[in-house]
Amino acid sequence: MSNNKVIQWHFSKITKTDRQRMNGHKSCVIWFTGLSGSGKSTLATELEAALFNMGIRSYVLDGDNIRHGLNKNLGFSSEDRKENIRRIGEVSKLFVDAGLITLSAFISPYREDRENVRALFSTNEFVEVYVKCSIEECERRDPKGLYAKARNGYIKEFTGITAPYEEPVKPEIIVETDTQSIEDCIQSIMNFLKNNELI
Ligand code: PPS
Repeated sequence: MSNNKVIQWHFSKITKTDRQRMNGHKSCVIWFTGLSGSGKSTLATELEAALFNMGIRSYVLDGDNIRHGLNKNLGFSSEDRKENIRRIGEVSKLFVDAGLITLSAFISPYREDRENVRALFSTNEFVEVYVKCSIEECERRDPKGLYAKARNGYIKEFTGITAPYEEPVKPEIIVETDTQSIEDCIQSIMNFLKNNELI
């Protein structure tokens, strides 16, 4: 018997709109996608700090951190990445329901997986940010030494080297971290949030 037949949705007395009203701002997910070393976590962390200083409630969900706990049973095959992103999509949805601006920073290399997450949200609630950076620059930065390990064959299925990265087709925002400063990238995301009355 499927779960749908034996489990019923329980509704809260407080709605997402109530929480947003109390917070004084909308909630949404800002989904950072890009190669390892492109700057997703850096941007999400800087943006969280900037929003915090403006009195806006936000929270970062980050690939490395989530893989230490919730998703520690998942690896980097395409099936595991799909499940990783599916779970994070659901967690992001809960956080958005809780009234937070949720900053989700995951390579999320497959377009279909990202589109499945987008489909969980209404228009305006899902903001895809393509953190664009050439593979050459990511490899030059190599902050964790992972590209070197991937080149030496110590890490299999490494995104951009031995596993694919599918660029977003129509992301809401593109930031180019090999030519723009962190401040410029944050400013363009802030502008989007203001122009769309999310903050
Ligand atoms: S994914 O593709 O969205 O499921 O990946 P994600 O959950 O964001 O985790 C990416 C971080 O895992 C480290 N790492 C790898 N990345 C890519 N490919 C392989 N094989 C791999 N193995 C370990 C790496 O530190 C990634 O972090 P970032 O911040 O992207 O560099």
